[in-house]
Amino acid sequence: MRPPAGAAKLRLVTDCTATLALATPDETTALGRRLAPQLRPGDTLLLDGPIGAGKSHFARAVIDARLRAMGRREDIPSPTYTLVQTYEAGDVTLIHADLYRLAGPDDAAELGLEDAWDAAICLIEWPDRLGSDAPAGALHLRLSLRPDGGRDAQLTGPADRWRAVLSDLTTAGAVDA
Ligand SMILES: Nc1ncnc2c1ncn2[C@@H]1O[C@H](COP(=O)(O)OP(=O)(O)OP(=O)(O)O)[C@@H](O)[C@H]1O
Ligand SMILES: [Mg+2]
Repeated sequence: MRPPAGAAKLRLVTDCTATLALATPDETTALGRRLAPQLRPGDTLLLDGPIGAGKSHFARAVIDARLRAMGRREDIPSPTYTLVQTYEAGDVTLIHADLYRLAGPDDAAELGLEDAWDAAICLIEWPDRLGSDAPAGALHLRLSLRPDGGRDAQLTGPADRWRAVLSDLTTAGAVDA
């Protein structure tokens, strides 16, 4: 039977999700270090969570791990004021952006991030500013504050890219969907 017109353009994407408790800043660092080697050119991490949730802390751990893997150590400043910080890590560019001060997708478009989605590894704080311009294949990390002072981390992304990665990050391999 023929598919209905336009059906060929539809791609059914199933998301998978993993949740982890991060009791201390060191556990946030450890999560970043474990994720870092799994990231490939073209991957984007959308880092969500309230002010002080640990988004920059996590991004710094990822960037530091990728630079160390190349035998390099560098200061990794917060991009709060510069908006975008760029690092060359071997044959891949790492882009760390903090979109908090942007009004919305039009402002974000001026940063030219869409030119980076395909080839760089992008870590984006306050990705809600992108509206619907965020790349569809991104891994979404949501950090929330727990009453005991720690953080909860929820990671969600399209299963075809992220299921194996998330299973590896959770000790029990517990990934939904
Ligand atoms: N699992 C954790 N438990 C407790 N504190 C943590 C944890 N992870 C990170 N932190 C701490 O949270 C604080 C704020 O971190 P960070 O500056 O990365 O937040 P942010 O989400 O980037 O904030 P902003 O929205 O202002 O950019 C830091 O002092 C960091 O050490
Ligand atoms: Mg930050």
